[in-house]
Amino acid sequence: MERLRVIGGHRLTGQIRISGAKNAVLKLMAASLLASDVTIIQNVPRIRDVEIMVKVLQSLGVEVTWDDRSTLRLDPRQGIHYSAPDELVREMRASVQVMGPLLTRLGRVKLFQPGGCVIGQRPIDLHLKGFQALGAEVVEEHGYVYVQAPKLRGAEIHLDFPSVGATENIMAAAILAEGTTVIRNAAKEPEIIEEQNFYNRLGARIRGAGTDMIRIEGVSRLQPKPIEYTVIPDRIEAGTYMLAAAITGGDLELEEVIPEHLESLTAKLREAGAEIVTAEERLRIRVGRRLSAVDVTVLPYPGFPTDLQPQIAAVLSLADGTSVLTENVFGSRFRYVDELIRMGANIRVEGRSAIVKGVPRLTGASVIAPDLRAGASLVVAGLAAEGETILEGVAYLDRGYEAMEQKLQAVGADIRRESDAPVETEMVV
Ligand code: EPZ
Repeated sequence: MERLRVIGGHRLTGQIRISGAKNAVLKLMAASLLASDVTIIQNVPRIRDVEIMVKVLQSLGVEVTWDDRSTLRLDPRQGIHYSAPDELVREMRASVQVMGPLLTRLGRVKLFQPGGCVIGQRPIDLHLKGFQALGAEVVEEHGYVYVQAPKLRGAEIHLDFPSVGATENIMAAAILAEGTTVIRNAAKEPEIIEEQNFYNRLGARIRGAGTDMIRIEGVSRLQPKPIEYTVIPDRIEAGTYMLAAAITGGDLELEEVIPEHLESLTAKLREAGAEIVTAEERLRIRVGRRLSAVDVTVLPYPGFPTDLQPQIAAVLSLADGTSVLTENVFGSRFRYVDELIRMGANIRVEGRSAIVKGVPRLTGASVIAPDLRAGASLVVAGLAAEGETILEGVAYLDRGYEAMEQKLQAVGADIRRESDAPVETEMVV
C-alpha cells in the first residue's frame, strides 16, 4: 500500500511543466483503431490510465510500443478483434471510447457494461442511442453491450446532455457512414477538437468540433498512411497546480499550457484575488493575500470544469467568507468533503451544492482519496494544512497525474511517497 506524506505550510514557487492531456490521449489512442497504418502519438503522459488503454488496445490486436519515454507507436495492421477483456473495461470506464472506432472498422463491438464509479452513476445511454440513430442494433444482456451495424447511415442526433464520451463515440461511428451526420448539443471540450483534427488527418470530413454542432460527412474510406500526432497539455493537471499555488500563497509559473483552456478557472481565481498573467504557452499565478470567497457553478466546457471542483473546494475552505459550489455534471462528486472536514474544513453538502465556509486554518490528518480528483483536492489541502497529512489511495492519483510529487517537490512542497514494502527478511542459510 502506498501513501503520500505532506507537511503543509510551504509556498509553491518556481516552474512546473504540464504533461499531455489524459482526457485527450485516451481518445486519440482509441481513434488509432481507425488507422490502417502506424500512428505515432507524442507528448503522452506516463499515467496509469494510459497503461490500461495500452492493454485494451493490445487485447484488441493493436501492436503498441513506447518509442521513447513519451511517444507511443500503435500498429493495427495485425487485424483487430471486436471485444476487450472484461477486467480492463471494468477498471477504466474510458475503455468505452473504443466502441465508435470498432463499429466503424468492424461493424460490431462487444464490451462488458461499464459500471458507474465513485463520482456517480455513469450510464452510456447517450452513446448507445447515437449508435442506434446511425442504424446500429444494440443488445444489452448478461452484463454486456453488443452493438452490430453491418451498415451505418448518417443521421441527425440531438444529445440530451453535451456528453463528452457520447460526442466522441458518435463522431467516430459516423466517419464512414453513408451520408452526413449532425450532432447537436455536442460537447465542446478542447479534447474533441483534437479528435476531429486527428480523424481529418486520416481523411475524415468532420467540421464544427468545439461548437455545439458537429457535422460529419461520411467518406468511403480513410487514407492508408501513417500519422504523427502531439497531445495537447492537460488543462486539469494545470488547473490543479494553479489551485495548489493559490492555497499556499505561492508564485508559480506553468510551462506548456494553453491558457484559453483554463479561462473559467483563471476568471474565478482573479475574482477571488489571485494575480494571473498569461502568455503564449505559459501562465503565472501569484497570490499575496487570503483569497475571498467566490461562488462556483460547474458546467460543461467552457463552463467551470467538474474535474477541478474538488480542488477549488479545498482552496475555498481557507478563503475569507462563504462560497457555494454547485456540481451540475456528475450526480455525486462530493465524496472528498468528509475528508476535508477531517482536516478542519467547514463544508455542508445540500443536494448538488456544497456550502464552503472559510476557516482560518486546516490541520494535517490521515485521509483517504475516494477518486482521482478528490485525491488531488486532498493533496492541495495538505499543502496548506498545519502539520502532517497522510494520504492513502495514491493509486487514484497515479491514474491521472504524471510524477505529481516530483513536480510539487521541485517548487518547494514537502511531499513524499511511502510504501509498506514488505520488509526484506534476511534469508538465513
Ligand atoms: C469525460 O468523462 C472525462 N473523462 C471526465 O474526466 C470528465 O469529468 C467528463 O468528461 C466531463 O467533462 C475522460 O475524458 C476519460 P460525460 P465522460 O459523458 O465522457 C452523464 C477525470 O477526472 N451521461 O460528459 O464519461 C454522465 O453520467 C474524468 O479526468 C449520461 O447520463 O463524461 C455524467 O453525469 C472524470 N449518459 C454527465 O453525463 C451517457 O450516455 C457527463 O458525462 C453519458 C453521460
